[in-house]
Amino acid sequence: MSKEIKMKQDILVIDNVEKHFSRKTSFWARDSYAVKAVDGVSFRIGRGEILGLVGESGCGKSTVGKLITGLIPPDKGTIDYFGDKSVNPQLIFQDPVNSLNPRMKVSQTLYEPLLINRFLSKKNILAEIKRLLKMVGLDEKILNKYPHQLSGGQKQRVGIARALAANSELIIADEPTSSLDVSIQAQILNLLSKLQSDFNLSMLFISHDLSLIKYISRRVCVMYLGKIVEQGLCSEVFKTPLHPYTNILLRAAPISKISSSSLPSSGCSFYPRCKIAKNKCQKQVPKLKQIGKEHYLACHVMCEIFSSRGTASRGAGYAGKIKNVRK
Ligand SMILES: Nc1ncnc2c1ncn2[C@@H]1O[C@H](COP(=O)(O)OP(=O)(O)O)[C@@H](O)[C@H]1O
Ligand SMILES: [Mg+2]
Repeated sequence: MSKEIKMKQDILVIDNVEKHFSRKTSFWARDSYAVKAVDGVSFRIGRGEILGLVGESGCGKSTVGKLITGLIPPDKGTIDYFGDKSVNPQLIFQDPVNSLNPRMKVSQTLYEPLLINRFLSKKNILAEIKRLLKMVGLDEKILNKYPHQLSGGQKQRVGIARALAANSELIIADEPTSSLDVSIQAQILNLLSKLQSDFNLSMLFISHDLSLIKYISRRVCVMYLGKIVEQGLCSEVFKTPLHPYTNILLRAAPISKISSSSLPSSGCSFYPRCKIAKNKCQKQVPKLKQIGKEHYLACHVMCEIFSSRGTASRGAGYAGKIKNVRK
C-alpha cells in the first residue's frame, strides 16, 4: 500500500515495533534478562476508528500505548502518525487518581494543555475549559476543586477532558475504566464512544476485558507476551476466534500465569500453554498471516488448517473440536 493511500485512510501505522527492558533476576543479582514487552508489533488505526487492544496483564499493552504517545522510544520498528494537526496522540491513563496532580485544581489541570497546544488568550482558555467540562459531562462548579474532592468517575472525566484539551485526533485510552465501579464504567465507556462519533476521533482502546473491547471497538488486536497473535473485526474474532489464546480469553478460562523469563527459547511463545501445538510450534515463531480481508493470525496449526480448508467458519469449527492434538 502506498504511503499516500495510508495517509488518507490511516491515522497511525506501526510497523514491527520492538521494546525490550532489562530486568535483574533478583534484587541482589548481577545477572539480568530481557523482558520482551513489545516484540515485533504491527497494526494500523483508521481515521475515526476505535481499535481494541486486549491481552492479560503484563503482555505489553501499556508499553504499546507509551510508544505511540512518544513517552518512550522504540528499540526497533517505525511508528508513523498521520494526524493533520501537529499534536501528539494523547493518553488517558488507567488510574485517574495518580494521573492527576493532587496539588492542581481542575482549572489548572486543563489550563496547561490548552496554553501549550492551542495558543489561546486567557479569556478564551476559560471559555474553552468550560466547553470541555460540558463535553465530558461535568459541571463547571468543579473548576476550583482538587482531585481528592472528586469521585473516581469525575476524575476520569477530567482525565478525558485533559486529553481532549490538546486537540489531538488520536486518543490512547489505557484501561480507562478498570479502577471504576461497574455502573461508572458504563458511563465512561458511553462518553468515550459519544466523543469518538461526535468528533470523528480515532482511538486505541486498551483493556484486559474482552466484553469492553467488544462493546466499543470495530477491530481488535489480541496480544500475548509482546506479540499480536490475532487481529480482525470484532464481529469475526468474537464469533469465530481462531487462535487458541483468543479462545481461552473468550471462554474466560483460568490460565496459569507465565512471564517473559520463563518463555520458551525458540518457537511460539504460546507453545507451553497450547492444547493444539505440534512439533513445528516448538521450533519456529509463527508470523502474523493475513487469512481474511481484515483478519490476521499467528498460529502454525490454525493457519495450516485454514489454508487447506478455506473459510474462517470451517477453521473455527475445527478449532473448537481439536483438543490435545500435540504430536
Ligand atoms: N520501565 C520498565 N522497566 C522494566 N520492565 C518493564 C517496564 N515497563 C514495563 N515493563 C515490563 O514489560 C512487560 C509489559 O508491561 P506492560 O506494558 O505494562 O503490560 P500490560 O499493560 O499489558 O499489563 C511487563 O513484564 C512489565 O513488567
Ligand atoms: Mg497496562
